[in-house]
Amino acid sequence: MKKLVILVSGSGSNLQRIIEAVAAEEITNAEIALVVADRTCYGIERAAAQGFKTLLIPRGKDFSAQLDAALPEDITLIVLAGFLSILSEEFCRAHAGKIINIHPALLPKYGGKGMWGHHVHQAVLNAQELQSGATVHYVTAGIDEGAVILQECFTIEPGDDVAALARKVQQVEHRIYPQAIEKVLNETS
Ligand code: GRF
Repeated sequence: MKKLVILVSGSGSNLQRIIEAVAAEEITNAEIALVVADRTCYGIERAAAQGFKTLLIPRGKDFSAQLDAALPEDITLIVLAGFLSILSEEFCRAHAGKIINIHPALLPKYGGKGMWGHHVHQAVLNAQELQSGATVHYVTAGIDEGAVILQECFTIEPGDDVAALARKVQQVEHRIYPQAIEKVLNETS
């Protein structure tokens, strides 16, 4: 059984999707060993309510070291699902190839520091892009710079605002994150 650790900071809708994908065996031969949050959030609440092991490690400079110490031994993959802290360079190096993230835009555009949530969608609209989408990528020390695993785009319609883009991106995310996890797990087995 492959072991996933999921990191959250927010509502955890991607976490919920992953929980369901594991149960439905869209993600095969895997279990969610631990859900970690860096702040109180609905994501960790809903994980606990469904009986998953959870851990709150307050955000701050010791977060990565504390996470490292709390990881189950034979962990297969660390999945960031709406996780807002930056993992330390040391942590990223120690777990290279085993940490993935989902980003609400078509990287390499609209990534990096400050590019999260509505900021991303506003930047995409300001640039009058014709398309947006979501990207699953490996996590490295450079923010949003790791290799792309899976990406899916959609056309931006006239009149789409930040809320419309957020809705459309979320639909894409919920479709591609389980697919990307399954892909990575099969490649690492
Ligand atoms: C997603 O848009 C994801 O791209 C970004 O954070 C958001 C998380 O949403 N990294 P949720 O907490 O899974 O609902």
